[in-house]
Amino acid sequence: MNIVVAVTGGIAAYKSVQLVRLLIKAGHDVTVVPTDDALRFVGLPTWEAISRNPVTTSVHDDVARVRHVALGQNADLVVVAPATANTIAKMAAGIADNLVGTTLLATEAPVLIAPAMHAEMWRHAATRANIETLRSRGVRIAGPATGELAGGDSGPGRMLEPEEIAEAALALLVPRDLAGMRIAISAGGTREPLDPVRFLGNRSSGRQGVALAAAAADRGAEVTLVAANIGADVLAAAQHPSIRVEYAGSAADLERAMTDAAAAAEVIVMAAAVADFRPAVRAERKLTKEAGGIPAIELVENPDIVAGLVRARREGQVIVGFAAETPEVEGDEAELLERARRKQRRKGVDLLVVNEVGWQRGFEQGENAAVVIGAEGAVVASASGSKRAVADAVLDAVREIWTPST
Ligand code: C5P
Repeated sequence: MNIVVAVTGGIAAYKSVQLVRLLIKAGHDVTVVPTDDALRFVGLPTWEAISRNPVTTSVHDDVARVRHVALGQNADLVVVAPATANTIAKMAAGIADNLVGTTLLATEAPVLIAPAMHAEMWRHAATRANIETLRSRGVRIAGPATGELAGGDSGPGRMLEPEEIAEAALALLVPRDLAGMRIAISAGGTREPLDPVRFLGNRSSGRQGVALAAAAADRGAEVTLVAANIGADVLAAAQHPSIRVEYAGSAADLERAMTDAAAAAEVIVMAAAVADFRPAVRAERKLTKEAGGIPAIELVENPDIVAGLVRARREGQVIVGFAAETPEVEGDEAELLERARRKQRRKGVDLLVVNEVGWQRGFEQGENAAVVIGAEGAVVASASGSKRAVADAVLDAVREIWTPST
């Protein structure tokens, strides 16, 4: 595919040399469009050598082939890295006074920007407003990270590492094979309150569910993500124009939110870890030692949300459950599958994603391994690696049985 990497004038330009290398290594044709200021940080011969394509900054070169718009028209993706506050402001206003500007105005391809600037500039109300404008137009924003900035300062504004930008960029090149799909995904773990400060919870970080939401949105789906107690750093990966986030605390909240979301969704994925039980009594005031004795916590059962969604299923709706299992013998796949098949039958889901969890497995990790069981109990997919890779395998299996409504 054709990728344009627009490089604007920040010290982080040197990191974009590595970004270009990574995109070429992934098999893409890369054209670098630097601003004149960018060339003060990294020279034109470097960009030509590394991209193996001619590089120009002028809108007046190659006029016969209308290069100033052709670059944007022919691009499958435009990445602006680093994106300075100045270029971000120009993008928001649609200013095209250089080749980067004309390329961006002429393109209908996805655009990803990797901001890089001083923390004060990033926090400035003008930059905030410009970023929101770009986001609302569908521009994807990668970063910035918080860390060391030019001149020894530190704060938010540091450009992401080339590997991270390349991963975000390549995700935008995936086929939009889920276009038209409305999908409701629950993620995270519920908290069942004991008193105003304590709860019964679980170790789910929400990473797998957020990865599913991001993958589905990248593939063209409209996503409602019901997030149960997910940390802001994990949830940041769900910032996408096609993802609407609803928040849920307890199982009861999650049931309400998922029932609402399911009414408008053709696909439902219950990736959240829902508490099977909740305290029978929610104390109005904090339980204290002064009250004397050790309090006994009586539990009552929570409704099985996914089973309820299956009972209310509309014609054509695809419902996916998750099963996190701890087999008696760690790594015993046969036992894992046997339990999973029983669970799939009990819940009546179309697909069940099964993974083994344990003290060092599954939860809070970047990596995962899972098998997907179909309605007949057969293994229809398996994947291991990043949670994104597992998410894509699950969505492939959904795609197989999903019938687009029109
Ligand atoms: O039975 P188990 O808790 O292992 O089932 C896991 C699957 O069921 C997950 O998809 C989870 O989101 C869902 N679940 C639910 N309501 C509950 C418990 C689990 O929907 N009360």
